[in-house]
Amino acid sequence: MATMESLIGLVNRIQRACTALGDYGGGDSSLSSLWDALPSVAVVGGQSSGKSSVLESIVGRDFLPRGSGIVTRRPLVLQLHQTEGRQEEYAEFGHLPRRRFTDFSLVRKEIQDETDRITGKTKQISPIPIHLSIYSPKVVNLTLIDLPGLTKIAVEGQSETIVEDIENMVRLYVEKPNSIILAISPANQDIATSDAIKLAKEVDPTGERTFGVLTKLDLMDKGTNALDVLEGRAYRLQHPWVGIVNRSQADINKNTDMMYARRREQEYFATSPDYGHLASRMGSEYLAKLLSQHLEKVIKAKIPSITSMINKGIEEMEAELDRLGRPIAVDAGAQLYTILELCRAFDKIFKEHLD
Ligand code: GDP
Ligand code: NA
Ligand code: MG
Repeated sequence: MATMESLIGLVNRIQRACTALGDYGGGDSSLSSLWDALPSVAVVGGQSSGKSSVLESIVGRDFLPRGSGIVTRRPLVLQLHQTEGRQEEYAEFGHLPRRRFTDFSLVRKEIQDETDRITGKTKQISPIPIHLSIYSPKVVNLTLIDLPGLTKIAVEGQSETIVEDIENMVRLYVEKPNSIILAISPANQDIATSDAIKLAKEVDPTGERTFGVLTKLDLMDKGTNALDVLEGRAYRLQHPWVGIVNRSQADINKNTDMMYARRREQEYFATSPDYGHLASRMGSEYLAKLLSQHLEKVIKAKIPSITSMINKGIEEMEAELDRLGRPIAVDAGAQLYTILELCRAFDKIFKEHLD
């Protein structure tokens, strides 16, 4: 559906423009409620459960800091924008608006540097998000948020309150009714001890906005399998569980190619005696499609409420523009104008869609 495609693309652009506007999105203006009304996918789970790896697999690129211990220390709001044709892939940071990154190893470095800029080279965390957009013909339109991993104890160099601080930060993202929860649990730990499921259960008891993802299937003890979880018997969610085999640390150290890893993951499922019958519904590529389809459905269902929000936003923005006076020289005015244009386009597509 071409219309639906452009609808998600527009939601993406409005979200991006809203965040670019910074202060304007704050407080209880209709712009910030507009942001809250637009769905995004928050990735939650215990430390080293594979959150960043899953995100990278969805994108199909290598660009996130990964590894043991607390690596992700600030929320990363990642917007994927599907571009047309054979355009080159590139990335852009909210804090470096005019710089196009085509070397994704530099994207990883910039995430690390920008994390350190706020937290220092410590094990501290900060709730201030980093905004990153990726433009590529190969991605599906999605907004994903990578979050610090939930932990049980503070380690050397962390404050006493870090366990609670992380949980509160993650909760802020997942408790929003429009947030889709990607709950990551590693298959080599008992699902009953999963931090992701514990939190998801709390904020989404009916499981309607939670997608259960089971990583590290390749690391399970020999002679055991995860069918109880993957077939929904261990913990039932409204959406089907998706099993994943990400790259191991050894693969990462060897620079194993992402596309090769994806093929290997597909092969793993296709040839597995345990999971062969589920193969078409497993793996990161399938997960990306599942999420994008779900996002479409959610946006469609929310068309009326988003439209009224947008109309309120348009009125508010027009008033604000009048106050600033046209033509507008300041950056904020120009941004506001961009959002206004996007909202109008959105409104128009909504109407066509409803006809
Ligand atoms: P995060 O802390 O939840 O973001 O986890 P990371 O994505 O940084 O992964 C932590 C470590 O687990 C890394 O060394 C990954 O290579 C490894 N890892 C993640 N998923 C898998 C998997 O499915 N299989 C294997 N073998 N290793 C994985
Ligand atoms: Na980690
Ligand atoms: Mg991480």
